[in-house]
Amino acid sequence: MSKLFFPVLLSLIIGSSELCAQTRISSPKSIDDKVSELMSKMTLEEKVGQLNQYTGERLATGPVTANSTKYEDIKAGRVGSMLNVRGAKDTREVQALAMQSRLKIPLLFGLDVVHGYRVTFPIPLAEAASWDIPAIEGAARIAAEEASASGIHWTFAPMIDISRDPRWGRVMEGAGEDPYLGSIISSARVKGFQGKGLGTLDAIMACAKHFAAYGAALAGRDYNSVDMSERMLHEVYLPPFKAAMDAGVATFMNAFNDLNGIPATGSSYLQRDILKDSWKFPGFIVSDWGSIKEMVPHGYAKDNREAARLAIQAGSDMDMESHSYLPYLADLVKKGEVEERLIDDAVRRILTKKFEMGLFDDPYRFSNEAREKKTLNSAKNKEAARKMAEKSIVLLKNEGQILPLSKNAKKIAVIGPLGKSKEDMKGFWSVKWDDDDLVSLYEGLQKKVGAGSRIEYAMGCTISDTSRAGFADAIETAKRSDVVIMAVGETFDMSGEGNSRANIGLPGVQEELIKAIQATGKPVVVLVMAGRPLIFNWTSEHVPAIMYTWWLGSEAGHAMANVLFGDYNPAGKLPMTFPRSEGQIPLFYSYKNTGRPPLNENDRRYRSIYLDLPNTPRYAFGYGLSYTQFALSDLKLTKNSIHSSDSIVVSCTIRNTGKYAGEEVVQLYLQDMFASVTRPLKELKDFKKVMLQPGESKKLQFVINKDKLAFYDQQMNWTTEPGEFNLMLGTSSDKISLERKFQLIN
Ligand code: GLC
Repeated sequence: MSKLFFPVLLSLIIGSSELCAQTRISSPKSIDDKVSELMSKMTLEEKVGQLNQYTGERLATGPVTANSTKYEDIKAGRVGSMLNVRGAKDTREVQALAMQSRLKIPLLFGLDVVHGYRVTFPIPLAEAASWDIPAIEGAARIAAEEASASGIHWTFAPMIDISRDPRWGRVMEGAGEDPYLGSIISSARVKGFQGKGLGTLDAIMACAKHFAAYGAALAGRDYNSVDMSERMLHEVYLPPFKAAMDAGVATFMNAFNDLNGIPATGSSYLQRDILKDSWKFPGFIVSDWGSIKEMVPHGYAKDNREAARLAIQAGSDMDMESHSYLPYLADLVKKGEVEERLIDDAVRRILTKKFEMGLFDDPYRFSNEAREKKTLNSAKNKEAARKMAEKSIVLLKNEGQILPLSKNAKKIAVIGPLGKSKEDMKGFWSVKWDDDDLVSLYEGLQKKVGAGSRIEYAMGCTISDTSRAGFADAIETAKRSDVVIMAVGETFDMSGEGNSRANIGLPGVQEELIKAIQATGKPVVVLVMAGRPLIFNWTSEHVPAIMYTWWLGSEAGHAMANVLFGDYNPAGKLPMTFPRSEGQIPLFYSYKNTGRPPLNENDRRYRSIYLDLPNTPRYAFGYGLSYTQFALSDLKLTKNSIHSSDSIVVSCTIRNTGKYAGEEVVQLYLQDMFASVTRPLKELKDFKKVMLQPGESKKLQFVINKDKLAFYDQQMNWTTEPGEFNLMLGTSSDKISLERKFQLIN
């Protein structure tokens, strides 16, 4: 090789790299670099401003603190986010104030878009009853399309608190009692809200809330303390949050409750050890409304200044309406009581999301009135809401096949305090509109039946008071009819936040009204409209047809009418156990056997029973009927014993043995027969929802791998142990029709 070769080659290499350097088109700065560059210009006060969130007045969703400097604060860069400001016009106006600040850092606009924005979908617990994951994701997607067209960047949803206590009013917001179903729904809702990713114009940031274990409030009383084992926390209450995290959720919200003595807002175990360190969560945590300052009444902080210190040190990045970060954090840093790096970390997390949302490119990109007008309240969205509502309805009883009703029914009586209600159909967490166009049951029926049919309405009684003055008229109305449809339950504000009930029976004298109408001898169908499982034992035992219709949103009436007349065959399954009595609560399907399980219903001495009630629920988790019937058969396992690295393919056949096309949810449960800690008698590990024509059969397959066999052992290691498992297939947690044991060898 000539002596000249290498020097020439070397000069060529150096030359080309210099040439590149001179002509290099500067690669676009990363968001991290942009954040660093912006933060380098920020004063400490401006950084603290980013951690401060205020509410709009008109739509406040918590106890409001008088705040005369709000808009001045925004102009001075002392506010990072607003909640409860909505609409392209209003958000644009408020954003314009932020653009007057020195660094023009845009605001984030957050709102509780929990089950729909302009078109209201069924409450989340109702949607969970559909077990239709694509539909649930689609509902969140539509909510995001509407909200993002209306200036909203961020929804405080999904609420993914597992709860096994229907006295707690916020069960209506979640996905029920089961961590497996709750995790799948959590992931679907996050994906629905965030769509193709932050920065796309129809995506909004989701918020996994309330972190954590808020649904286990003592005695079902909202905001109450929570005490539980680390195993229960990790096995039951955290999985939906991990699912949200794995789905890429942009933000978390902490919780009002204290957990094992530490308020969630001040818990570095939850917010730093688990979420930010172990799970490596890159987003930011917003406090719940006032939850930072509420550490004072919790008896955990002596004043708001200490609460601010405790919260930022624990990892609560943004202060929602505690008015504690803005007045105290800078001083805490200057006095050396809080390290500035904690502020910097929180600011970086928040600014990163603002860059990801494209707000620095265009702070008004979501506040476009033309797009808002085009996107909101479309017929397509309403149709989707109606379909979601139909899927959410649970048929609890249909004795004598009263349902579906004949379209030739000539005289229909609608009786009960919710028969013509529109407002209650929207549920507790709907976005409030002056011109809401919700469809009542009565209107839905009117639209459904032909001109030849007559529909008469009698309220009979109100929801809550004890007057029976309307009974006589209701009875006469029933006597003039061929069939009676009763609409009973709760008002929309008897569930939801701050609305716990110690007695979860049908309020007022509604069940007496049902008895009086039943006594007429007319065929009676009872529709229960509520945000939580209610107790209605007499009705359950005496009325032939019962449907649970929750609060179904904008298209409630059309959905109920379609199901009542068989244009949609109900397929909903309960996502929560329905107790016979408050005395049984907490009551859930995945209970443990105890050392003294009753061997049968006559086994009554020294057994884990009640003297006055069966242990069983009124209606079980996973229960729901159809107008048709289904049969499961041919259970097969590819192996009867596996190593933990193996998997088993489970198959079965499902057949529609009835005369209507319909959907069924086949549920797969597992029991670990013996382990180093006691294990539940059954746990949901998979399910499939399938449509079958009359007489049609389909083969279903499930895969069992070690993840479905794992649990937390005595040392809280997530592990599997060799031993025997029982596999169960059924159409409800209490309707198991196929089962088979298999072995895990190691
Ligand atoms: C409420 C709720 C929370 C909601 C927030 C903002 O108090 O606890 O779920 O997102 O305040 O409305």
